[in-house]
Amino acid sequence: MFFTLLLQVIWILAAFGDEHWTYEGPHGQDHWPASFPECGGSAQSPINIQTSSVTFDSELPALQPHGYDQPGTKLLELHNNGHTVQLSLPPTLYLEGLPQKYVAVQLHLHWGQKGSLMGSEHQINSKAAAAELHIVHYDSDSYDSLSEAAKSPQGLAVLGILIEVGETENPAYEHILSHLHEIRYKGQMTSVPPFSVKELLPPVLAQYFRYNGSLTTPPCYQSVLWTVFSQKVQISKEQLEKLQETLFSTEKEPSQSLVQNYRVLQPLNQRTVLASFNQDESSYTTGEMLSLGLGILIGSVCLLLVVYFITKKIQKKKSRNEKSVGFTSAHATVE
Ligand SMILES: *[C@@H]1O[C@H](CO)[C@@H](O)[C@H](O)[C@H]1NC(C)=O
Repeated sequence: MFFTLLLQVIWILAAFGDEHWTYEGPHGQDHWPASFPECGGSAQSPINIQTSSVTFDSELPALQPHGYDQPGTKLLELHNNGHTVQLSLPPTLYLEGLPQKYVAVQLHLHWGQKGSLMGSEHQINSKAAAAELHIVHYDSDSYDSLSEAAKSPQGLAVLGILIEVGETENPAYEHILSHLHEIRYKGQMTSVPPFSVKELLPPVLAQYFRYNGSLTTPPCYQSVLWTVFSQKVQISKEQLEKLQETLFSTEKEPSQSLVQNYRVLQPLNQRTVLASFNQDESSYTTGEMLSLGLGILIGSVCLLLVVYFITKKIQKKKSRNEKSVGFTSAHATVE
């Protein structure tokens, strides 16, 4: 009797100290702030990037990844942590073009339900992509460790890459996806031959959105300087299916599919989203194009009408003058 009580107490204590969280259910995202206060903060991620509301900043340089295309010789560790699939990265990979030098730590993915084309965390103009890649870096000049940097403003820099479905297989993403079957259950790990992480990025690194936000998973620290690329990358439908259908969020049976591991949109509040590029004319919507075209058409018609009436009036006046001249001369002849 006493023993059962003791077990219960231990169980309750363990549950309180538990860092257990999920995306849905009793430990789902609505409940994160109760256990992880920063998840209820005012500078959270992900956000919807409304391109009509971003601020162009001509000072934002193209992002320069270093060492990304030199994979080295060491095997990389690929891990199913029950929330996502995560690849560890060596510190020979780092970023320049940010206020600080940021060293790479890991990358991971977010995706949707089986068959869903909406699994990204960030959205652009309220449109989600099929999946999203996050490459996590920390400011190693200012902080001794990732865990220290993760709690400090701008301690982390994360690259967000939106992934959509295209016609062909993306060989770079296959370096990760082809190993998923080796780590189907939570806690499993495998080794992956090094490859060029650069190929996971979109070709144009000069066009991106920048804002101050947070980790998108508990403890949701508001320490992330975000870079979300404007350009998306493409993987095949089969590759997306592999991502959606291979992994489990549980250690064993009964198994639960690891799907829909994205956080819902968070309010922007007082924050500014910067853009490294100017939205040019080609970014007009169809509606804007139509009204612009219609405006030009109506304007031209009005101008033509005005010209037509003026010419007509001049002609009338001219012919009247000619008549009066004729009359005068006729009169003169009569005289
Ligand atoms: C992020 O926050 C820092 C510190 O408050 C500020 O200096 C910087 O301009 C902010 N960056 C963006 C992109 O808003």
